[in-house]
Amino acid sequence: MSKNPSEIDIETMAFVEVFKRFKRLRLFEPSVGVLGFFVVTVCVICGFFYLDYRAVAKGFLFPDQDRFPRIQIKGSSENQRVEFLGERGERCDIFEGDWVWDENYPLYQSKDCRFLDDGFRCSENGRPDLFYTKWRWQPKDCNLPRFDAKLMLEKLRNKRLVFIGDSIGRNQWESLLCMLSSAVPNNESIYEVNGSPITKHKGFLVFKFKDFNCTVEYYRSPFLVLQSRPPAGAPQKVRTTMKLDKMDWNSVKWRDADVLVLNTGHWWNYEKTIRGGCYFQEGAEVKMDMEVEHAYRRSIETVSHWIHTELNSSKTQVFFRTYAPVHFRGGDWRTGGHCHLETLPELGSSLVPSNTWAQFKIANAVFSTHLYASEVKKFEVLNVTRMTAQRKDGHSSVYYLGPNVGPAPIHRQDCSHWCLPGVPDTWNELLFALFLKREATHSYNASKY
Ligand SMILES: *[C@@H]1O[C@H](CO)[C@@H](O)[C@H](O)[C@H]1NC(C)=O
Ligand SMILES: *[C@@H]1O[C@H](CO)[C@@H](O)[C@H](O)[C@H]1NC(C)=O
Ligand SMILES: *[C@@H]1O[C@H](CO)[C@@H](O)[C@H](O)[C@H]1NC(C)=O
Ligand SMILES: *[C@@H]1O[C@H](CO)[C@@H](O)[C@H](O)[C@H]1NC(C)=O
Ligand SMILES: *[C@@H]1O[C@H](CO)[C@@H](O)[C@H](O)[C@H]1NC(C)=O
Repeated sequence: MSKNPSEIDIETMAFVEVFKRFKRLRLFEPSVGVLGFFVVTVCVICGFFYLDYRAVAKGFLFPDQDRFPRIQIKGSSENQRVEFLGERGERCDIFEGDWVWDENYPLYQSKDCRFLDDGFRCSENGRPDLFYTKWRWQPKDCNLPRFDAKLMLEKLRNKRLVFIGDSIGRNQWESLLCMLSSAVPNNESIYEVNGSPITKHKGFLVFKFKDFNCTVEYYRSPFLVLQSRPPAGAPQKVRTTMKLDKMDWNSVKWRDADVLVLNTGHWWNYEKTIRGGCYFQEGAEVKMDMEVEHAYRRSIETVSHWIHTELNSSKTQVFFRTYAPVHFRGGDWRTGGHCHLETLPELGSSLVPSNTWAQFKIANAVFSTHLYASEVKKFEVLNVTRMTAQRKDGHSSVYYLGPNVGPAPIHRQDCSHWCLPGVPDTWNELLFALFLKREATHSYNASKY
């Protein structure tokens, strides 16, 4: 990536930002009523706001507050929501809900966490606003438990938690390392077992929390299935093949984990496969004409089959995190697509490009048929796509080059990865909730007899 110093004039930036907020305000006028209701709910939940955020709040968040008397809102679903971890939280879909402003966030500061790639340290890299760190996910029908690092570490005692996937998976893994380590005062007691530094190297990293004898690991495997040499006699232009019916070699190391968090998606496109000479293979046959979408479906089926046949579901709790949308507006990463100066979530409609939904639907279709294929549910879906689609404000944008370097050029924006603290923390809060839920369900059953 380019290391050129900033080309952006800071004053111009501030002006553009104000101007954009103006434009956004006008955009939202028709839905002011809905927005007003949302906002007052936020208000009740938060209780108070700091002066710093008033400027934004006045212009955008509080267009019509007076119309909705507080007293009425108090009787809203907030009081009736059940606890997700309680017995009555059973049926709650925690992925359906809203982003609400919460002054208790973020859960940690990036400067206090040494497990972050520079690329995710947006504030340290010069991002001026902190709004993106202040949103909490509120499911519609229940309340999530507050993240408790000590409790999670206690539950992970003598266990392995393993993330596998692409760099967005790594984004989530680093987020969890920060969330967990915030409860460990002795920084020497957390270390990489092979002494490897947490820079952008490939392969895998295993961090041990010594006091809890647990490891939180990351394996890079953007496709999950096996990419290797083509069979003998394959056409010249086939440089590698993706063996859609075989798992990545490293999968033998994942099998005995206690918690697995898988993801794949961002690499399933023409550019990252066929254009680079990587064709798809099933059995001994290279399928020269197979399209990426079809290959993607086959890979998800392979992963699902692996979960059902190779893993011990009494031991290993498996999560599949769905695609995290990118937000290159007005282009893609090569053609001037941008997310820079986005400082608020999209609270109404979604900005997800249709090809993301296409991919999401493929995975969903496979999950739906496999998820309930046996009596025991063998894995859970961290269904983050829709909620994440609203967070166009959460990307690294031009703030990924590291402290002391300055922002990246405006045409080199990163609208795929996420600032930390930020959106992946929320995925981990959902992971935490589901992780505890399994335990809670086990204990109800135990107490019943
Ligand atoms: C630490 O955890 C591993 C499993 O990850 C287990 O095999 C080992 O016995 C544990 N060590 C101690 C000292 O409890
Ligand atoms: C732990 O923290 C101390 C004091 O903040 C620091 O000097 C030391 O380098 C840290 N150790 C590691 C392994 O980061
Ligand atoms: C599956 O895991 C459970 C719990 O760890 C263990 O008791 C059981 O023996 C395992 N089953 C197999 C077939 O390994
Ligand atoms: C995930 O959520 C979407 C809505 O955002 C829903 O259509 C889909 O069925 C869900 N998928 C699974 C596997 O729960
Ligand atoms: C708990 O019991 C219910 C029915 O009583 C059953 O459907 C569920 O699968 C059980 N859960 C576990 C984890 O054993």
